[in-house]
Amino acid sequence: MAPWMLPLIYSLIFLQYSPSSFAKFQPRYFPSSIIQPESRSLHSTNKLYKTKYFTQILDHFNYNPQSYLTFQQRYLINDTFWGGPKTNAPIFVYTGNEGEIEWFAQNTGFMYDIAPEFKALLVFIEHRYYGKSIPYGGDKKKAYKNSKTLGYLSSTQALADYATLIVDLKNNLTAIDSPVIVFGGSYGGMLAAWFRLKYPHVAIGALASSSPILQFENITSQYSFNNIITQDFRSESENCYKVIKGSWEEITETASTHQGLELLRKSFHICKNYISGDYLESWISTAFIYTAMTDYPTPSNFLAPMPAYPIKQMCKAIDNPRFGNDTFAKLYHAANIYYNYTGDVSCFNFLDDSDPHDLGGWQWQACTEMVMPTSGNNKDSIFPASTYSYMGHAQYCQEAYKVQPRPTWITTEFGGHDITRVLKRFGSNIIFFNGLRDPWSGGGVLKNISKSIIAIVEKEGAHHVDLRFSTTEDPEWLQNVRKREISIMKGWISKYYHDMGDDSHTH
Ligand SMILES: *[C@@H]1O[C@H](CO)[C@@H](O)[C@H](O)[C@H]1NC(C)=O
Ligand SMILES: *[C@@H]1O[C@H](CO)[C@@H](O)[C@H](O)[C@H]1NC(C)=O
Ligand SMILES: *[C@@H]1O[C@H](CO)[C@@H](O)[C@H](O)[C@H]1NC(C)=O
Ligand SMILES: *[C@@H]1O[C@H](CO)[C@@H](O)[C@H](O)[C@H]1NC(C)=O
Ligand SMILES: *[C@@H]1O[C@H](CO)[C@@H](O)[C@H](O)[C@H]1NC(C)=O
Ligand SMILES: *[C@@H]1O[C@H](CO)[C@@H](O)[C@H](O)[C@H]1NC(C)=O
Repeated sequence: MAPWMLPLIYSLIFLQYSPSSFAKFQPRYFPSSIIQPESRSLHSTNKLYKTKYFTQILDHFNYNPQSYLTFQQRYLINDTFWGGPKTNAPIFVYTGNEGEIEWFAQNTGFMYDIAPEFKALLVFIEHRYYGKSIPYGGDKKKAYKNSKTLGYLSSTQALADYATLIVDLKNNLTAIDSPVIVFGGSYGGMLAAWFRLKYPHVAIGALASSSPILQFENITSQYSFNNIITQDFRSESENCYKVIKGSWEEITETASTHQGLELLRKSFHICKNYISGDYLESWISTAFIYTAMTDYPTPSNFLAPMPAYPIKQMCKAIDNPRFGNDTFAKLYHAANIYYNYTGDVSCFNFLDDSDPHDLGGWQWQACTEMVMPTSGNNKDSIFPASTYSYMGHAQYCQEAYKVQPRPTWITTEFGGHDITRVLKRFGSNIIFFNGLRDPWSGGGVLKNISKSIIAIVEKEGAHHVDLRFSTTEDPEWLQNVRKREISIMKGWISKYYHDMGDDSHTH
């Protein structure tokens, strides 16, 4: 992987927007994939799993024999810690996100950390249309060709894949009675929660980390996402917030002349090949968005390495007069923390549209069912004031794929409105973790729903921080979050064994 690349959201914009249409529609960073693309971690040299493939049904919801196409679905498995079928030892399944699964497996260290204690089998299933799990013979060009071939890329099909694969795997392992717990972060966390609700006979519980299942329709305010980012920076330093907030106009103005553009290119060390004011604003705001998402208490890898508490570091760069009093110098040094922490980038390439973790399919998902309004900015926002435009979104999707989004489908299929009232007497065994520094937490479940649908909320936490590999530097609050999750999951398993015992008496 290149030491630096344009981040996901940005590269998606590049893939889909021609420069001329860029400013016309929506926001600088739409449509955002919600994963937190943390790169291969410390453990990358170790073998963490074996890779397998499963022949999966392309269309689970159609009995027309012509539709009985299949594809090869990748999954990763680690049985080193498993207690085996004789003791009905548990199976932990990661419900894959919108990207290649190895990346998620390597960055969901929590499952590895706790597997020995639970004697658990670890399985990570890749989401269809991502990584190597590509329909149409693995031919990505074909699979992504148009709305006809992309039509099978949906959350409901993905959940059916997971159920089918898990049931088949348990048969093969003669582990029918091993309890399954599903894990996921971000979109993967949404899938984990929904899986528990739709397939309670397959999974006894779900740990859904930073899963914004309420970021649909008007359930959560469209301003919530950027309000949280604003708050993250503002609580660090009022000056830092003011400098960033005041910079957008200055950039736009400067970018309006040829000379100004050249000044911006120099100030931000942009490669010679391309610059425009819109791209620059998008590039800078992307750094703030992802830094807010990954404001972790320990150093991390987010495409490139980042220091612990990167927002603090960014604001230090902005507040530090050593870098001069000019706005562009301050912003440049702040952006460097995100884009060039290792210091080995010679210039920032705006035309880089590489996608090493294969996240591009999210575009389609955002244009069909994953309509998550997050781009609103009120007048206090750290970004320029704006409102989310569904029309702009729909117009973009029409141009890109010739599809109309279905903004109310997710709540029709999985619910979301009045979630407390609905789930209070339905469903059980779900943990919703959210860290309040994470902009996605606004769309998360932040209140306990019942005795067994539990919200764990941590004000210092960022995007699925609980799922990361533990380190000796982890703060106490993080250790406590994980301890609570472990203890809740132990409760699910012991109740399951207890119920099985009851069952065997009655047979
Ligand atoms: C499972 O993961 C551990 C690291 O936690 C590794 O040592 C072991 O080799 C892995 N097992 C397999 C079968 O990949
Ligand atoms: C179960 O075993 C069959 C027969 O070997 C194999 O085709 C299938 O892929 C296996 N299922 C999984 C989930 O690996
Ligand atoms: C959300 O609220 C806005 C403003 O009140 C309204 O125009 C829009 O139709 C609503 N959308 C949905 C999906 O309810
Ligand atoms: C920046 O401005 C502040 C106040 O406006 C001043 O105190 C400081 O010396 C200036 N720093 C530099 C490096 O010019
Ligand atoms: C990246 O950081 C190094 C070290 O601080 C610096 O020399 C280099 O100019 C930076 N790259 C860019 C594109 O700013
Ligand atoms: C949910 O309930 C648990 C106790 O079961 C408690 O520890 C936790 O703080 C509650 N969560 C919230 C967000 O109130």
